[in-house]
Amino acid sequence: MKLATRVTICEVGTRDGFQIEPGFIPTEQKVEVVDRLSATGMPRIEVTSFVSPKAVPQLRDAEEVMARIRRRPGTVYSALVPNDKGAVRAVDARVDEIHTVISASESHNLANVNMSIAESIVKLRAVAEVARRAGVPVSAGISCSFGCPFEGEVPAARLESVVARLVDLGATSIGLADTTGMANPAQVARALERLVPRFPGIQWTLHTHDTRAMAIPNILAALELGVTQFDASIGGLGGCPFAPGASGNVCTEDLIHCLHAMGVETGVDLDALIETSRRVQEIVGRPLPGQIVKAGKWDRRYPLPDGVPARLAALSAR
Ligand code: COA
Ligand code: ZN
Repeated sequence: MKLATRVTICEVGTRDGFQIEPGFIPTEQKVEVVDRLSATGMPRIEVTSFVSPKAVPQLRDAEEVMARIRRRPGTVYSALVPNDKGAVRAVDARVDEIHTVISASESHNLANVNMSIAESIVKLRAVAEVARRAGVPVSAGISCSFGCPFEGEVPAARLESVVARLVDLGATSIGLADTTGMANPAQVARALERLVPRFPGIQWTLHTHDTRAMAIPNILAALELGVTQFDASIGGLGGCPFAPGASGNVCTEDLIHCLHAMGVETGVDLDALIETSRRVQEIVGRPLPGQIVKAGKWDRRYPLPDGVPARLAALSAR
């Protein structure tokens, strides 16, 4: 395999995950999770979103969360924003980076942000202006980049046209999001083979959901094509409230475990991350999909069954 020596993970659990939890996660617990994630050395954390509190009541405490987290030098704290109102709130809350949202599917964009793609582009132009004046970098995410729960497969040409419109707005960082886990590795590879040469200089991020157990395979496909930024959610939390059938993101500790096992660095303390995942399970009050919390790391060893040590000793004495 062709692998980078280091990749950058953006933890999105407190945004993509907590936005879809049935109960409101108390502000103080959100802050605790962000601080624990920072302490693992996580390089990027999408903390919350500045959206309408009517649309996503679970994240109505975005300002307070941003004000109360302890900022670790070396971690970039970002938030999701759909319009200029959200951008002004995010800038006032001193986010390090704004993540915008638009969908490659008209149906999902209408369901998610109540705008056509063209209307969203107008709003994102205003977001870019707010961010430019404040000196805050923007990364532009595209929901349903590969498939839409209402429309089915999103043609590569459609994705490319949305990317082109974002690049026209000045985007230099673009996130391709597989919102409902419909992409497969061959499709991800085809999309990147088309987009990467067409838009040189863009920093690409892949945002995956593991709805159909294809998240890590999709990430490996992107990694082989030179993508080095990936979103992931602690424990495998996650899901879009406006995309039926959406479920958790790729689980951060499972992904980081896979990367470390292959010799790819992330700068994250995996043991501390696994502890954080256990704490998040307590907070949400149920087991999460992540595997490593249950299985332990690949180097976990079990005691030998009775009788086997003596027979092993006899074998090696021969
Ligand atoms: N933050 C807080 N409030 C906002 C807001 C923002 N970013 N944008 C709009 N609002 C408020 C308006 O002030 C208005 O408030 P009022 O009813 O008290 O006057 C209300 O929301 C409606 O505003 P409007 O511009 O008409 O928006 P809308 O009802 O068409 O909704 C969005 C559009 C984008 C604001 C809304 O669909 C949304 O927040 N979606 C978020 C989707 C999301 O987070 N999805 C998951 C992540 S992919
Ligand atoms: Zn998502």
